[in-house]
Amino acid sequence: MTDLHLISSAKSATPITIVRNKDYAAWLKKQPATTQGWLKATGFSAANASCALIPSTSGKIEKVICGISDDAPAIWSIAHLPAQLPAGTYALEGLHKDASELALGWALACYQFTSYKKSTKKFPQLVLPKNADAAYVNAVASGTCWARDLINTPANDMHPAALANEAATWAKKAGGKVSVIKGEALLKANYPTIYTVGKASSVPPHLVDISFPKKGAPKVTLVGKGVCFDSGGLDIKPSSGMKLMKKDMGGAACVLVLAKAIVETGVKVQLRVLLPIVENAVSGNAMRPMDIVTTRKGITVEIGNTDAEGRLILCDALSKADDETPDLLIDFATLTGAARVALGADIPAFFTPDDKLAEAVAKHSKTHHDPLWRLPLWAGYKSMIQPAAADLTNDAESGYGGAITAALYLQEFVTKTPHWLHVDMMAWNQSARAGRPQGGEAMAVRALYALIKEKYGC
Ligand code: BES
Ligand code: ZN
Ligand code: ZN
Repeated sequence: MTDLHLISSAKSATPITIVRNKDYAAWLKKQPATTQGWLKATGFSAANASCALIPSTSGKIEKVICGISDDAPAIWSIAHLPAQLPAGTYALEGLHKDASELALGWALACYQFTSYKKSTKKFPQLVLPKNADAAYVNAVASGTCWARDLINTPANDMHPAALANEAATWAKKAGGKVSVIKGEALLKANYPTIYTVGKASSVPPHLVDISFPKKGAPKVTLVGKGVCFDSGGLDIKPSSGMKLMKKDMGGAACVLVLAKAIVETGVKVQLRVLLPIVENAVSGNAMRPMDIVTTRKGITVEIGNTDAEGRLILCDALSKADDETPDLLIDFATLTGAARVALGADIPAFFTPDDKLAEAVAKHSKTHHDPLWRLPLWAGYKSMIQPAAADLTNDAESGYGGAITAALYLQEFVTKTPHWLHVDMMAWNQSARAGRPQGGEAMAVRALYALIKEKYGC
């Protein structure tokens, strides 16, 4: 279990005072002369992401002053501290309305991927502020660290059986019902596209189906792309494009974080989680360009490019989800390079035909500083995914608008569910920032948790 570096109480803790840059001059005037002298002598100006250690007369750290910018988002505002402070126990001074976000940022800043290389860095711990929502902070912090570990673990260890096992083990512990279908049993259970994508790997494809029944509660279903490694298949990726593809199960990892938060904080929904998990490999029995597969829904799909495998595994899982007409259906996927070209690595794209839902996503994204940006399900581009020989192609005739044509493809499989949201994201931090180490990342989870909690309640 990850150490979140949060503790519920402590006999003694070094206080941390947060000072906004614009308030610094006025705040400084009210401090004891020794503090004023020290801060001036050391050149402290409460610049964003700075901190000053105030020594006591006996040579201990008496307090920490944490400088933040005027508009610093709560979640990352003190996330620079764990890297800067010596190990020890600290507590925030005063009451902060964003206490949960501050604590979460602290915990997320203490993450290290240590499975293959031990670290000597010892992070400080923070006393969880009294007014923080402990269940929320613990669920999202431990969930995010779990997702980062899942994504960072290379595909030789995080193969389809391992990822399916991680999901199923968590779900059983959390009180969910779990069914796992794998290998040729996927054909018998009518998941032809999941089987087709995953059959070339030495580790068979899996579909993990988890449910948390709650009589009478609205149904929410989450679907996540779990491609443990995306070589591109026979339309093989160039080495530069393949290098990061252990992260192609990032959608499934994000779904697990969101599911964990929903379950652990008791949101009043009947939750279902569907994770199609495969490796897109190269082998004699691999799917080929221009193979045609009849999907679970009966729609025929021509595989124009075996590297557009995400929408293939998602379409059977979405059909299954749609059969049950949940009130809300969300899928998360590292689906297209085109979404990254459009919005960069940090901003997941989202798609929904539902304007009200889109407004709610944008609102929660803004309040929680969890970026998401809507792209259109532009019906005018549908002809780009309609080939001559089958109902749909997974490879649009033009490369332009690739995130949109991928989303339009998925939309064909969601025909009954009233509210559907598709998230196309990177699941990876290109570079390190406070609270966000370089490597695997759970994206869009905090905003969508807030949306679900507001819609259905705890
Ligand atoms: N997993 C990739 C998409 C991806 C690439 C996400 C890089 C994030 C970063 C996906 O399976 C893929 O290869 N998509 C192709 C689709 C194309 C062949 C139609 C792409 O985006 O190039
Ligand atoms: Zn691919
Ligand atoms: Zn992929």
